[in-house]
Amino acid sequence: MDNQDYDVCIVGGAGHVGLPLALAFAASGQRVIIHDLNKAALEMIRSGTMPFVEYGAEPLLNKALLENRLLFSAEPHDITRAEHVIVAIGTPGDEYLNPKLRALLDLFKRLHPYLRPSQTIIIRSTVFPRTCRQVERVLSQDGQRWKVAYCPERIAQGYAIRELKELPQIVSGSSSEAVEAATRLFGTISPEIVQLEVEEAELAKLITNAWRYIQFAAANQFYMVASSIGIDFNRVRDAMVRGYGRAASLPSAGFAAGPCLLKDTMQLASFNNHFQLGHAAMAINEGLPNFVVDMISRRHHLSETRVGILGMAFKADVDDIRDSLSYKLGKILRFHGAQMFYSDEFARDPTFITKEELVAAVDVAIVGVPHSAYRTLVVPPGLDLVDVWGVVPAQTHVQV
Ligand SMILES: NC(=O)c1ccc[n+]([C@@H]2O[C@H](COP(=O)([O-])OP(=O)(O)OC[C@H]3O[C@@H](n4cnc5c(N)ncnc54)[C@H](O)[C@@H]3O)[C@@H](O)[C@H]2O)c1
Repeated sequence: MDNQDYDVCIVGGAGHVGLPLALAFAASGQRVIIHDLNKAALEMIRSGTMPFVEYGAEPLLNKALLENRLLFSAEPHDITRAEHVIVAIGTPGDEYLNPKLRALLDLFKRLHPYLRPSQTIIIRSTVFPRTCRQVERVLSQDGQRWKVAYCPERIAQGYAIRELKELPQIVSGSSSEAVEAATRLFGTISPEIVQLEVEEAELAKLITNAWRYIQFAAANQFYMVASSIGIDFNRVRDAMVRGYGRAASLPSAGFAAGPCLLKDTMQLASFNNHFQLGHAAMAINEGLPNFVVDMISRRHHLSETRVGILGMAFKADVDDIRDSLSYKLGKILRFHGAQMFYSDEFARDPTFITKEELVAAVDVAIVGVPHSAYRTLVVPPGLDLVDVWGVVPAQTHVQV
């Protein structure tokens, strides 16, 4: 019998999902192995610094370090030392937006020598429906009975530390033993456990993100309809939602981006052929940068125009630029000959300039993401400000 001297090992433990979860378990009194191939990130975390913006995480990290609750490892043999193994690696699609199922299955084949049937194997990454059964099949090829659970992550990036304490946790598993073990583990950090069958849980996660992506698409479609006839959608929306609960779920328009929403919507679409709404949402959300550029080109000769993008991260008040539509926007504008300038409040890049320098240097500024700092941004007179989100105070707006 191997010595299982840790409660949990998180594979992908230095990532945006893995690390907050590791800290939540450590804060609940457990001993956690943070296993990751990214040694630079492991070093940074070991020194008490978060490798990305995650509100409320650093104090938990430093407390866990002081209490000696964390083991950092890039070595697979350490995984054997934990009672529960949670896999939270990235599950990106391929360049044609199809899921890459093999990557996760190959990972389990590689990890197999370091895993034990006595451990609970918990998949946390978002997966294509029926993937977890395939993982169980891969592990069971050795003739042993494995406990495989699927417990999807549903936090909003940047706010995981708060949300892990507040959100109900969906738990599913290949056997009642797997469900019971995962329920006990997540019961230590979650206020409520909701049990589902594995395939239901896989779908629940994908539909959660697809639903959000479709809501953003609805807002973006309405924005384009309004803008194309010169009407400020944000004024219309504000009036619609005020005191009117039935319209309250209409989000503001904006560049719906990041590593999850589009990818998960497309996983659902590639799972069966009947998800036209998902494809429509992709066409609308991914088409918004083109729409904005089209509208700007009616007022400016782009090849003679200096354009700045305020906000390169994929969402407000974080530093994560993965799959941000601000980059797509910049690419389209450069293609049309515009001279480009970029700025962000959190993401670091030596080519970025400050927001004040940017608004002083350009003819057109586009809000790429609604960082809170833009709520008080002073915009020079005469600047053409394109603010799809409606974050900059109204008196400075120019309608696209
Ligand atoms: N980011 C979010 O807000 C969010 C929310 C819910 C669900 N998800 C899902 O969670 C999963 C992880 O997303 P993320 O944003 O945390 O990704 P991420 O890229 O931030 O983190 C993944 C981590 O896994 C590590 N890794 C990759 N391969 C590894 C391996 N073979 N062994 C050990 N470590 C390995 C990477 O170095 C990285 O640190 C994805 O399936 C994603 O769709 C993400």
